[in-house]
Amino acid sequence: MKRIKAIYPGSFDPPTNGHLDLIERGSKIFDELVVAVLRNLEKAPLFSVADRRKMLEAMTSGFDNVSVETFDGLTVEYAMTVGASAVLRGIRAISDYEYELQMALMNRKLQPSLETVFMMPAEKYSYISSRLVREVAQLGGNIDSLVPELVAQKLREKMDPALKFVEQAERKSAQRQTRSRKKRS
Ligand code: PNS
Repeated sequence: MKRIKAIYPGSFDPPTNGHLDLIERGSKIFDELVVAVLRNLEKAPLFSVADRRKMLEAMTSGFDNVSVETFDGLTVEYAMTVGASAVLRGIRAISDYEYELQMALMNRKLQPSLETVFMMPAEKYSYISSRLVREVAQLGGNIDSLVPELVAQKLREKMDPALKFVEQAERKSAQRQTRSRKKRS
């Protein structure tokens, strides 16, 4: 019997209740679903790839056909590498459609055997995006019903001024170390 494996690629910065809803729906129609976090060196994310992966792993631990991985490069190439035949993407509103259609058609051009499957999250999540969650959290708004509790906790930690200071200092020190390593080599 043919087994269908799909990837669900995205930035997930941070993962939201909308993402979780889509993962649950995807896990019901695909035999295997790989949530694939893009390692994008160009963007300055709020959460590291490792943090996002950990949050997604905790959120999806109850689904036995869902795994979480990270990838870089082209989505279609990653899909081929892991033997997936479909890409799952969510469409919340008509405003998502144009971008998603463009991406789906480009992916089809690059890899005609790969199908993009669009699913809609529950209406109650249709206004949630990672960008807005970040903005609301950064401005001190309540994000409790927008993301799973473990993500809300991580966001609160990020926004805590004392922790933010420690984190900034750690980041600066890591940057200094990288620069001095580069100079030495
Ligand atoms: O959650 P996002 O940021 O909307 O996800 C976008 C993502 C990761 C699916 C898209 O940027 C992507 O596929 N990037 C990988 C590079 C790639 O394949 N680019 C061509 C896409 S048509």
